[in-house]
Amino acid sequence: MAPRFSRLGFILAAAGSAVGLGNIWKFPYVTGENGGGAFVIIYLIAIAFIGLSIFIGESYIGKESRTNAAAGYQEISATKNKHWRWAGFQIFAGIIILSFYAFIIGWIINYILISISGLPTTIKEAEDTFTNLITHEIGTQILFHTLVVATMIFIGLKGVKNGIEKLNLILMPLLAIILLGLLMYSFTLDSFGKAIEFMFMPDWSKISIDSVLAAVGQAFFTLSLGMGIIITYSASMAKDANFIKSSVFVAIVDTSVALIAGVIIFSFLFAAGAKSTAGPGLVFISLPLIFGGWGVFGQIIAIAFFCALLFAGITSAVSLLEPTVMYLIEKFKMTRVKATFITSGFLYILGIFALLSMSEDYGTMLTFFGKNLFDWMDYLTSSVALPISGFVTCIFLGYFVDKNELRTKFTSQVSVTVFNIWLVLVRYIVPVAIALLFLNKLEVI
Ligand code: PHE
Repeated sequence: MAPRFSRLGFILAAAGSAVGLGNIWKFPYVTGENGGGAFVIIYLIAIAFIGLSIFIGESYIGKESRTNAAAGYQEISATKNKHWRWAGFQIFAGIIILSFYAFIIGWIINYILISISGLPTTIKEAEDTFTNLITHEIGTQILFHTLVVATMIFIGLKGVKNGIEKLNLILMPLLAIILLGLLMYSFTLDSFGKAIEFMFMPDWSKISIDSVLAAVGQAFFTLSLGMGIIITYSASMAKDANFIKSSVFVAIVDTSVALIAGVIIFSFLFAAGAKSTAGPGLVFISLPLIFGGWGVFGQIIAIAFFCALLFAGITSAVSLLEPTVMYLIEKFKMTRVKATFITSGFLYILGIFALLSMSEDYGTMLTFFGKNLFDWMDYLTSSVALPISGFVTCIFLGYFVDKNELRTKFTSQVSVTVFNIWLVLVRYIVPVAIALLFLNKLEVI
């Protein structure tokens, strides 16, 4: 048996997986696009009820089965039915996500270099820098993509305890220090109050069904659910660890980081009178421009900010690799080296196709039915595969697992009332909510 996480190691690694680009890049811009406060409230509800229930459920499957995300379902099912292995399809979604997550981390490395060499000073320059990177600078993107994948291989080869745990032990505290530093700085800005108001004063007129969908989708993504990650990490959890307490803790850390990142970013944006609705370009266009206006001091803030993004991204990336690696090792008796190289090789090449699909030269070739390959990959994973696997996990735990055993395991750690609430959530509330939202998204209802 490979070495397990220490207790702290597990919590740090799970938090490292959860806290990622989703918190610092995506959460602020989605909040901005959806009008602020009201969206934040819906998001918090989605995390507390939908996200946390599934997180606890995945953690249970991993901890009790002690095996990969496919075999785990079979192992835990009341009848040990081997068809449950199909639920493990979710690890594939993780690899697809990782293929583009890797080159987005590459963009961040590029922005660290820009922060050092000189930031844009006009809006046109800021927009051109970002657009050019994506549409023209294929070589640069592939170079950084290669660097990121190589780093993941390096960590992945060392395994859960010596690779992933150690990495998180270093990067997570660094991330916390940088974020707290940036938060303190934003506190000194006049716009801090406005940022707090924007994020916490609800204006319900801005909310549509799409905002609710975005909040639930974001809850899944940010907690790293529906990809077998939490199952895989929990399989290496220390035997005596409390899986419910650690789940709650990780959800709190993850949510706090998202909220802190939001406050920091909106303070910066409002200080410069910039709009909150810039979408994905918020971090790559609006912020560099603002930092550029602050001279050398702005460069230092920019370097700190993009390093925070980089650290958050890397600790999430390594978590996306592990479910498939563990699956290949256990299922095909592969060595870790072979499993790591096969998985990384696949996602490396897929990532290159995805980044090419956004370029000017190859874009049309890699566009199908009006969406480029990158958009398809994002859509099919975040909007289709993740909710489906969340739904499957709830139905599985709610109806196909021995209820007495569930109760015994849960009540050794929490009260019967908490267990009953969780059971009602995974049996009825969460699957119905996911199904309704999913059908709505597919425009069936
Ligand atoms: N949870 C990470 C984030 O918020 C992203 C991630 C998604 C990591 C899926 C692993 C799996 O950025």
